[in-house]
Amino acid sequence: MTPTVPRHIAVVMDGNGRWANRRFMPRFVGHKHGVDALVRTVQACADRGVEYLTVFAFSSENWKRPEEEVSGLMGLVLVAVSRYLQKLASEGVRIRIVGDRAAVSDKVRAAWDEAEAATRHNTRITLSVAFNYGGRWDIVQACRRAIAAGTPAAELSEERLAEFMSLAHAPDPDLFIRTGGEVRISNFLLWQVAYAELFFTDCLWPDFDGAELDRALAAYSARDRRFGSVKPAPVPAPDVHGVTSSS
Ligand code: IPE
Ligand code: IPE
Ligand code: MG
Repeated sequence: MTPTVPRHIAVVMDGNGRWANRRFMPRFVGHKHGVDALVRTVQACADRGVEYLTVFAFSSENWKRPEEEVSGLMGLVLVAVSRYLQKLASEGVRIRIVGDRAAVSDKVRAAWDEAEAATRHNTRITLSVAFNYGGRWDIVQACRRAIAAGTPAAELSEERLAEFMSLAHAPDPDLFIRTGGEVRISNFLLWQVAYAELFFTDCLWPDFDGAELDRALAAYSARDRRFGSVKPAPVPAPDVHGVTSSS
């Protein structure tokens, strides 16, 4: 039986731009409200006993967006960290950033470092923010680091490679949620979602809240996770004569 509460939820926070467009506002306003939805969701997950939440905030491919939107998103990182870090830290949230930090500015890198350092001893919930992250990038960087660490080809097993993946600090996600109505992975956690339960919702990310999370959790509870195995056959109930009903 699937436990009601997944240990690890991964979320593609999609739909910010459309949320703003529907209100005749610039896309950036949607991203701002998206930060509020994230803080709300961290709280809602922690309240429900979820131990790990991993969110897709900026993909390796999002650099293709107009310069103005990209710089707006980078600025939003700084605003979000200064506005919410103390609150999250005091609520027991441990923050980890996953992704390629080489391409982001010194200011953004410093904000990430600060967020990680200020929350490193927290244990209530681990929030991993995927920023300048791509699932393919992750697999390649893990291979590179495994080789650099001297792993012989014959010893490069799934378990060994997993030690170098950027979410090595978390178990694989149990539940993968994508908001915004698109039904695709968009190069998020390709390696780690091998056996995650997938949940897609039309809800746009800035509207995401505890009620929408509960819908995803209810769907998750109804899933039958087999991991490639088979479910044990139900034991037939004996009838009144002591003969099983299937005989
Ligand atoms: C997701 O919302 C946030 C980021 C990719 C940074 P979008 O910006 O993709 O919003 P839509 O999909 O255009 O509505
Ligand atoms: C995925 O959303 C990336 C993030 C939510 C950060 P996109 O909006 O970039 O994905 P596509 O372009 O619809 O596949
Ligand atoms: Mg999108």
